[in-house]
Amino acid sequence: MAQAQPNIALIKYWGKRQTKFNLPAVGSLSVTLDSLWTRTRVQFNSDLEKDEFHLNGQLDSIRYQRVSQCLDLMRRRANVSYCAAVVSENNFPTEAGLASSASGFAALVLAGSKALGLDLTDAELSEIARQSSGSAARSIFGGFVEMEPGHRKDGSDTIAHPLIGPEEWPLHVVVAITSDRTKIVGSTEGMQRTSLSSPYYQAWIQNHAPDIEAAKRAITSHDFDALADISEYNCLKMHGLALSTRPALIYWNGATVECMNCVRGLRASGTAAFFTIDAGPQVKVICEPSETQEIMDALRGIPGVLRVLNSRIGQGARLI
Ligand code: DP6
Repeated sequence: MAQAQPNIALIKYWGKRQTKFNLPAVGSLSVTLDSLWTRTRVQFNSDLEKDEFHLNGQLDSIRYQRVSQCLDLMRRRANVSYCAAVVSENNFPTEAGLASSASGFAALVLAGSKALGLDLTDAELSEIARQSSGSAARSIFGGFVEMEPGHRKDGSDTIAHPLIGPEEWPLHVVVAITSDRTKIVGSTEGMQRTSLSSPYYQAWIQNHAPDIEAAKRAITSHDFDALADISEYNCLKMHGLALSTRPALIYWNGATVECMNCVRGLRASGTAAFFTIDAGPQVKVICEPSETQEIMDALRGIPGVLRVLNSRIGQGARLI
């Protein structure tokens, strides 16, 4: 069985330069979480006539096709055609802006490749995971992780790599859950819609590399304020892009906005904390460990916040 954790993008991936191999139009940078996880067991069996996929104890037909296509990538590498039974469990809401596809495909690629006897490097696992979901390439690694946009047509240089390990800058991530509902427009479709209709899409791509560089400098020098500034800027830029899409992609609800205001207020009064939001209404707050309790208490007091979780920065995908 393999375990992988979701990752939270600080500098966002939004848009693809090519869909066949799922190649991102921009680089991205993330932190891998610790206490949220996907656990996946894969058993290849020559008696099975088709793949089977159970998520959280139930047959899952919605995600079946993507899971089966991911298994195809590994079957091709191992040169086999057996079908597989995949059993997966998430200890957090699926497809609600908590990066369940990142942890899900990272765990699936590790469990599946081991079940086939493939001995792949982390870079190879990352490349396969990317083809199923761009953000999954980052969950192969722990700590702070960079994803290269790459230049090659076959995507062989579009892989993630770790920048610093989880123990080197042990920040915390507080997550405010403001909805348990599955998101209405998934990232894949949302990105496609943005690239076809937002007048700001080219500007997003052209102005992205400096954000990655600024975030990397902040991470290497452990400069919290610099990381806070660039991360909030890039997050709001991505959501500005989503809002300028036709039909508009509004991933926030009222509580999401209140959480952002709360974190900005705390930071203005000296608390080391900043927010980021992916394609869903949950708000992730990155903070110094000493500030965690204050932030959790403040977020819990906001109407519409259902639950507040706390996570350290975690390791990459591994067998358990
Ligand atoms: C907003 O990795 O879910 O979370 O490659 O189409 O599966 P696909 O998209 P996905 O997109 C993640 C988008 C994001 C930003 C990020 O994680 O960088």
